[in-house]
Amino acid sequence: MTEQGDPPREDALLVAAGRTEAALLVWGVKASFLRYVAGVGGEISRSDGTIELPEGFGFPVRAVEADGTLVTAGSIVIRAHGGLLNVELRDPRLAPTPSGDELSIAGPAGRLVVATAPAGDPAATGTPPLALHPDAVALFDGTYPPGTELDPVHFLRYREGISPAHGDS
Ligand code: HEM
Repeated sequence: MTEQGDPPREDALLVAAGRTEAALLVWGVKASFLRYVAGVGGEISRSDGTIELPEGFGFPVRAVEADGTLVTAGSIVIRAHGGLLNVELRDPRLAPTPSGDELSIAGPAGRLVVATAPAGDPAATGTPPLALHPDAVALFDGTYPPGTELDPVHFLRYREGISPAHGDS
């Protein structure tokens, strides 16, 4: 979310090299959405090793598939309005496709593509903006039209003193 939070290139390279044991995929979702949720007294719970960092929510990277897909485990649930607003972001994956990276989550009906980023090497380009995918408009109750800019993703290694065991809430 900040310039300073952009991934050090070596972190992206660590992930690319398959050294995922200490890597996090960090995503801030959408700052205005989180401000709104906080403003109406909502809450966010985390599980399965997901941690909260200044840059966003850190989902532990579990594997990199042969096609370059970054597989994470972890979940956050955003709730407000007495549970009417209930958005779960579970096990995000970042998959390279010919038209750009696709960020998807696990949903009740299989994986849902939430956002796409323009093609390019994230290690070289930093953090390209994410655009809301048409399939995920309902996830935000139709509030954001397709293409709405979401927060970018970052890659980070665990910092000293932060361990996923302490991340659950
Ligand atoms: C009791 C039901 C709900 C009420 C009364 C309500 C009310 C509101 C209001 C008043 C705003 C405008 C806030 C502002 O501009 O400061 C807003 C924005 C929004 N609401 Fe809700 N809402 C409800 C349910 C939901 C649900 C179920 C979702 C699903 C995710 C949702 C997602 C959003 C989003 C994404 C925004 C825009 C936040 C932003 O980026 O500024 N709302 N809502």
